[in-house]
Amino acid sequence: MTEIEWNDSYSVGIDLIDEQHKMLILRIKDLSEAVKHARGLEKILKTLDFLIDYTEFHFSTEERHMKKLDYPGLVPHKQQHEEFTFTLDRLVEDFEQDGATEALSNSINTFLINWLVKHIESIDKKFGKFLQEKGFGKN
Ligand SMILES: [Fe+2]
Repeated sequence: MTEIEWNDSYSVGIDLIDEQHKMLILRIKDLSEAVKHARGLEKILKTLDFLIDYTEFHFSTEERHMKKLDYPGLVPHKQQHEEFTFTLDRLVEDFEQDGATEALSNSINTFLINWLVKHIESIDKKFGKFLQEKGFGKN
């Protein structure tokens, strides 16, 4: 099973975003745990809801700063956020239909965790660098 723990190599150099990424990782872990132990429909849907709410909040924070500072990479970045949101919605549908299957557990691991790590390592770090250059600093 893929595990994820925050480590400083994920830092984008901006405290506000790092803190939100830490929370996002926690919420993905909660979901992963709930599915792994087949915690029951209600509990899993609740962790999924938490994750979706937090993801929305986090993406809108990033996008708000991008707009405010005329970030040139806004469009492709926003597109990645939309793809992730779409996949989360699909997970809810799959889950409602089939319950906590092995396939669902796998897609949480392979998709959500890998996506987040890759997204942070590439596109979020680029945005973090831009924020630092704009003097957003370490907050
Ligand atoms: Fe992002």
